[in-house]
Formats: sequence, structure tokens, C-alpha cells
Amino acid sequence: MPLVPATTETIARAADALRRGEVVAFPTETVYGLGADARNGLAVARIFEIKGRPRFNPLIVHVADRAEAERLAVFTEQAARLAAAFWPGPLTLVLAKRADCGLSELVSAGLDSVGIRVPAHPVARALIAAAGVPVAAPSANRSGHVSPTTAQHVAADLGSAPAYILDGGATAVGLESTVIDARADPLLLRPGAISRADLEGVLGTSLARPRASAVPASPGQLASHYAPRAALRLDATTVAADEALLAFGANVPRGAAAVINLSPSGDLREAAANLFGALRALDAKASTIAVMPIPDDGLGEAINDRLRRAAAPRGNR
Ligand code: TXA
Ligand code: MG
Repeated sequence: MPLVPATTETIARAADALRRGEVVAFPTETVYGLGADARNGLAVARIFEIKGRPRFNPLIVHVADRAEAERLAVFTEQAARLAAAFWPGPLTLVLAKRADCGLSELVSAGLDSVGIRVPAHPVARALIAAAGVPVAAPSANRSGHVSPTTAQHVAADLGSAPAYILDGGATAVGLESTVIDARADPLLLRPGAISRADLEGVLGTSLARPRASAVPASPGQLASHYAPRAALRLDATTVAADEALLAFGANVPRGAAAVINLSPSGDLREAAANLFGALRALDAKASTIAVMPIPDDGLGEAINDRLRRAAAPRGNR
């Protein structure tokens, strides 16, 4: 089994594996990532192969610091502001790629932009520093499945395909990074771990969502991403005996086959951290998961985005 506790020793071995072109799963503050050397096309292709991911979905490049990011992409003034405020941390900036960035074309799936972030998790930081290469990493789940928030989730989805699965415990945030296109007036491509309000506070303007178009600006935003096997019934205020219930807050309806409360006290941070683990656990309990309404403010925007995707028809998985 490639699953090992993250220690100085195993991180060093995993960094060697990355440099050799192998694929390594590691914890970040958001979810576990499946990493490869972003300059090595074969290694990046292996990520897509292991995930069963459509090729047109670009990957986030994880780097040690802002200086590394500047070597890969061009920072606008707004991008520099956001990086100063939120890096290291769960913010991904989509920027114009430099011609001499050395990144594999597969990383951006043929786009002339690149998504970059500087993670805050100490294991992710130690791994990137030891490897000394930019690390392309999507979430470490099979394409279309729920993102992994523990090393055990990664092992359940990917088995022994990664050379290492570094176990750093459950991730603190539990939701993926917020993705902002910062090449011009900033656009919110994917709601995530940093809330709209916090971003708008730093930018001093309101953040637009991209207009719907035939070619998705952020191709990962396929409607039915993040799907468990069970059907989801959103905004449930009652529950049937054969349904599992994903609850939120104090007023939980009775009678479900199984219940997990994301946050009995109604705390959206706690709910975000519990979301993907709860979906996995309830998926095994019933063929329908009823989901109580969750407020749309703060991290609620990202939580509701993931729930709507998980509930969407499965045609395009
Ligand atoms: O928290 C996270 O972001 C995690 C951890 C591992 O860092 N990673 C993650 O990666 O969620 P992934 O591949 O599951 O999602 C990446 C998102 C997708 O929606 C993708 O379309 C978008 O970022 N993205 C990446 N590069 C892009 C680019 N050049 N232009 C537009 N969107 C991009
Ligand atoms: Mg993902």
C-alpha cells in the first residue's frame, strides 16, 4: 500500500518520486491533491489516466511562493493584491502563462492561461520545497467523485495507483480553493474556501461570475461534478424513511434511515469541513440523500455550488 504517514522521511521519498515523474497524493488545507511534476508531460498525463479525467480540464499548479508563481505567469495589479492577502492559502489565480514557463501543455489543457496557488498546508509546502518543481495537482479522487478530505478517501478511490499517499490527517477546510480569473477585471470561476465577501473586501469591487458560454471558462465546472452514487434531494425540510439525511443546524426532521449533521450549531466553516466526508458516508446508506437548506452567505455559496453539482443529472460525467 502506498499510504504512509507524512514524516520528514516519507516526504523526502515522495519528493524524489515526483522528480522521477511519478504521481504522489498529498494533503493540502482544502482537499487531498494528486500531484505530478508540472513540467513533465508524461507525469501529468498519468494524473489524467489515474483520475479518468477528461483531457480538457486544466490542472492547478502548486508552487512554494509568489516568486515561483511569477516565473510561470504574469501578475496583474489585482492578482498581486489577492496573492498578498491570501497566499499561502486556498486561492487559485488564473493568469497569463509566460512563454518560457516550461510547463507541460497538458497542464492548461491547451489554454494560454494557468491556474496557480501557494498552498498553506505544512506537508504540501514541505513536499513542494523538497521536490523543487512546480506540482500540478487536481483533487485526488476519480473524476466525478467527491473530493477526498482524508488519505483513506484517496486510497478508496485510487488504490495503489499513486507512488505514495502521504497521510496528513483530515484536511482543515474540506472544500476546494476559490478560483479567480485575475487576468483582467477579476471573475469568480469557482466559489471555494475563500468567500466572496473576503475577496471583494481586498479587491474593493464586486466579483462577477463568468457569463455562460459554449466553452466553459473553467472547464472543471461541468454541471455534474462532485457526484456521489446516490441521488440528492436539495432543500429538504422533511425526510422519508428510506432516505439518508444530510442535516444542517438545530431543527432536524426525524425519521431518516441515517443522519449526518454538517454542523448542529449552524457554523458554515464546520459544515464545509464535514461536507465531502458526510456525502461519502451517506452514499453507502441509502439511494437518496435528502439535504437540508444551507444559507448562501460566506462559505455557504461554495457549499451550495458543490451540492447543486452533486444533485445534477449524471449525463455528462
Ligand atoms: O483546493 C484545490 O484547488 C485542490 C487542491 C488539491 O489544491 N485542487 C483542485 O483541483 O480542486 P481540481 O483540478 O479538482 O480543480 C481545478 C479547477 C477546475 O475547476 C479547473 O477548471 C480550474 O481549476 N482551472 C485550472 N486551471 C485553469 C485555467 N487555466 N483556466 C480556467 N480554469 C482553470
Ligand atoms: Mg476536483
